[in-house]
Amino acid sequence: MKRKLIGLLLCVAMTATMLSGCGSKGDAPADAPAADAPAEAPAESSDDAEADADAPAASGDVITIGFAQVGHESDWRTASTKSCQDVFSAENGYDLQFVDCDNDSAVQLEAVRGFIEQDVDYIIIDPIVSTGWDTVLTECEDAGIPVIIIDRTIEDSDKYVSWVGSNFKTEGLAAGEWLKAYAAEKGITEINALVIEGSTGASATIGRTEGFKEIADREGWTIVDSQSGDFTQDGGAEVMESYCKSYEGKFNVVVCQNDNEAFGAMDAMKQAGVSYGVNGDVILISFDACTAGLEFVKSGDINADFECNPLAAPFVEEVIKTLASGGTPEKEVYMEEHWFVNEDIISSIEVNGETQNLTVVTDDIIAAQY
Ligand code: AHR
Repeated sequence: MKRKLIGLLLCVAMTATMLSGCGSKGDAPADAPAADAPAEAPAESSDDAEADADAPAASGDVITIGFAQVGHESDWRTASTKSCQDVFSAENGYDLQFVDCDNDSAVQLEAVRGFIEQDVDYIIIDPIVSTGWDTVLTECEDAGIPVIIIDRTIEDSDKYVSWVGSNFKTEGLAAGEWLKAYAAEKGITEINALVIEGSTGASATIGRTEGFKEIADREGWTIVDSQSGDFTQDGGAEVMESYCKSYEGKFNVVVCQNDNEAFGAMDAMKQAGVSYGVNGDVILISFDACTAGLEFVKSGDINADFECNPLAAPFVEEVIKTLASGGTPEKEVYMEEHWFVNEDIISSIEVNGETQNLTVVTDDIIAAQY
């Protein structure tokens, strides 16, 4: 693909964005609905079919894409990487340059600069942290390389053509609203919650923490402690082990900000003789809803799991096709997400003024999950 054309398209896309008033992406736009008018899975329309004739992957040119991935810390991350590798495969006409940044922001900036050096056609970034991006994104812009952000958000720059991901604050609010309804149903009048946060500075951590805390503050719950487990199973186990020692008998809810942390927390609670889940003393809440997470919801070990959908790549490909055919992609594309529970006692909850159904986990649902 000719660099000049991409540069021109990038300028057009960014100018259109500025004119339409789209600014930098926040985790919870004031008017965001519960599921944020989530994107439908891209489907072929007749217009798309026409556009496909001109689309890069159909034109015979190999499209080079640099992808600076966060790392490999969780089941969610594995699914996200696979989604990109499946869509941007050689078979589909792509040359995917993949860098696993191992949760190191310096490595991630270096990876992006390496993609500029290589003169790739497009850059995909899943930002480890939400700040510190404007300089390198300006370098991408100067080089005429369109940047697409996935999953986590960037707060200090809007020099990217599109972002595809989740509303993390909505996820945190959903967890809080579900807990409120569940406690009422079960006659639980006092909530003492321990939170195991994700990686510090990640927008996924910031949004989930803010969302849950907003409901906790409103309802007068106590957040006994909130520490980072770095989105890993080991991190979850380590934090939970220390929580069990420090707060023995003083908590009845544990909120893990991803499934892998929940797996570690379950191990630590088992070791400490603390019972959890639908038949236990501690309500266990998780995020991601990966296959293994849903298996634990079905078995009743995790009470509720709030999905974070990692399958962004098909939507990213749509953005690339739109750019390649001279169009302006959406600045923000929200993934469709579901909220999963074990017990069939609450059918729906309201978040951001929108009612969304809860899904009771079955074997079929687990089989369909990533
Ligand atoms: O940014 C998404 C979060 O990062 C997922 O919840 C977590 O599993 C991942 O590592």
